[in-house]
Amino acid sequence: MTKAVIPAAGLGTRFLPATKATPKEMLPVVDRPAIQYVVEEAVDAGLDDVLIITGRNKTTLEDHFDRAPVLERTLSTKQDHDRLAAVMQVAELAQVHYTRQGEPRGLGHAVLCADMHVGDEPFAVLLGDDLIDTRNYVLSQMLKVREELGGSVLCLMEVHESQIHLYGCAAVTPIPGLDAVKVTDLVEKPDTESAPSNLAVIGRYVLDPAVFDVLRNTAPGRGDEIQLTDALKTLAGMDPAQGGGVHGVVFKGRRYDTGDKQSYLQATVRLASARADLGPEFRTWLREFVGSKEFAED
Ligand code: UTP
Repeated sequence: MTKAVIPAAGLGTRFLPATKATPKEMLPVVDRPAIQYVVEEAVDAGLDDVLIITGRNKTTLEDHFDRAPVLERTLSTKQDHDRLAAVMQVAELAQVHYTRQGEPRGLGHAVLCADMHVGDEPFAVLLGDDLIDTRNYVLSQMLKVREELGGSVLCLMEVHESQIHLYGCAAVTPIPGLDAVKVTDLVEKPDTESAPSNLAVIGRYVLDPAVFDVLRNTAPGRGDEIQLTDALKTLAGMDPAQGGGVHGVVFKGRRYDTGDKQSYLQATVRLASARADLGPEFRTWLREFVGSKEFAED
């Protein structure tokens, strides 16, 4: 498997007004846009053919993963080698392709836009605003489950029952002897009472190409959008010989939804704290700030 698809065509309404003219995937977390972390994660798992599904304002996204000759010349003239390397490294990370989702008709529709590029191979989907901490990468484990069991693989995370209405939710049964579960049902953003579990589907998927036909036949669901969750529910009930079957790995690491303001702030603080270059000074300041009168005031 070599291909990763990164949907980045959502409207990002939870982060307005910052996302009025900038895709939320381009909001910086410490010193790089969120989507760069996501591309780095795909490459780390051996997926270096990356298709980004773009919407409005795609220019900044394309520019970010492209060469920047004027900037490179300027940094080179100034002998600013570190910054030059950082700028060039982004352009050389992966083979990045783009396709446009004309209208944001939902995550399922965004994934369907990848069908020509992906063809008849399994592929990974990484949501462009969903960061998995580099210390807790999970994609390789998911690829292994696909290799062992076939079908599609989801990344599941236990959340508090009061939070489950924000996610797709999975009903699962254990698979004896394996560090994976069988997904028996899925519900998009259920209320607490009707949620079949507290396992939320987070933004990493390994999908069988059978998902494309299923998505083509999936009617708009919740929010009048074509929901990937609905297509996965269909896949879960399908014959493995037809590309059906859905499994899950339960993720216990650090993960941030950078499309949500609270989670974005947490990502910035935690990732900055962990950085070898910025962390020591930042942590000293943070400790002082947390102990200060200004912090204690409501
Ligand atoms: P979200 O539901 O978080 O995106 O989709 P959104 O609709 O932009 O969010 P809000 O609620 O308005 O803030 C998860 C991922 O799927 C992409 C988004 O860009 C995000 O990376 N997406 C969503 C698309 O590419 N197309 C869509 O039609 C919807």
